Amino acid sequence: MSVKTQESQFAKDVHLGLTSTPKTLSSKYFYDQAGDKLFQSIMAMPEYYLTDCEFEIFNTQAEDILNEIAPNRRPFNLIELGAGDGSKTRVLLRHFLKSGVDFTYCPVDISAHILEELESALKDEMPDLQVELLAGDYFELLNERIGKFEGRNVFLFLGSTLGNYNEVKAQEFLSKLRAGMRPEDQLLMGVDLKKDPSVILRAYNDSHGITKEFNINLLRRINQELGADFDERFWKHCPNYDPQSGEARSYLVSTKPQKVYIEATDRSYSFEAWEEVHTEISKKYSLSQLERLGQESGFKVIKHFLDCKHYFVDTLWRPV
Ligand code: AVI
Repeated sequence: MSVKTQESQFAKDVHLGLTSTPKTLSSKYFYDQAGDKLFQSIMAMPEYYLTDCEFEIFNTQAEDILNEIAPNRRPFNLIELGAGDGSKTRVLLRHFLKSGVDFTYCPVDISAHILEELESALKDEMPDLQVELLAGDYFELLNERIGKFEGRNVFLFLGSTLGNYNEVKAQEFLSKLRAGMRPEDQLLMGVDLKKDPSVILRAYNDSHGITKEFNINLLRRINQELGADFDERFWKHCPNYDPQSGEARSYLVSTKPQKVYIEATDRSYSFEAWEEVHTEISKKYSLSQLERLGQESGFKVIKHFLDCKHYFVDTLWRPV
């Protein structure tokens, strides 16, 4: 897709979101260069327990994971959806390499640039690792290339990324993935679990203000890329957590009545005082809800790998 089409898709999505009731902006647009950096800082904060939990699971249970995904050291392709900088995955990669199992690591990302950076970092650290980069859309690649790979595919979808979909979209995503998997393939997915609501809320409302910056950065991006005049002084980051739905939701709230003009859509958008714009869902599951979601999307749970506090799970599924 050309930069121009991407921009116009961004403009279309922003227009659609700001003319809906209630207003929304999609969290998929958080991740420009500044947003990527802010997300790295979020992952390094102690309040954002998700990262530490998944590290703990991989550091302490890599051998158990390997025994499940490669019984008798059967060769496999390790396909990571949305690899990013691969920091957590490296724990697994190092362990798998040491064990002598024959596998190829295939990180998938929409950005070829991110993949090239990842490949060069991996080459320095693990020169013996077999890597095949897959740049593009998950499902196009699944249908056109991954589904035709020789040998078994083990998919990784880490970091609770599934939580950024509501339950309907999560099921849609998993069913589409399932449709591209063969009977002997597996999926290892990192999912954040329901827990003390105050722990969850702190992860999305940190005292350093990093998550606030991450949310507000979306307005900066719209200003820079779509020629808008959002004044960030008049917007507040307002997260909440609803234990019933398991959804941590982030909002940007307008602190006064205001109009914002966006050059790319050539329109003004009005906001009332204290009107909210919904920007993100980070959904938390109980283990039984997760198992139900698996069943409804055509999977069976093989095993749950939990951290010691039972805050987070890397759950291993196979198609049924
Ligand atoms: C990428 N995703 C799983 C993160 C989450 O926890 O929903 C994004 C994030 N948003 C605020 N903090 C982190």
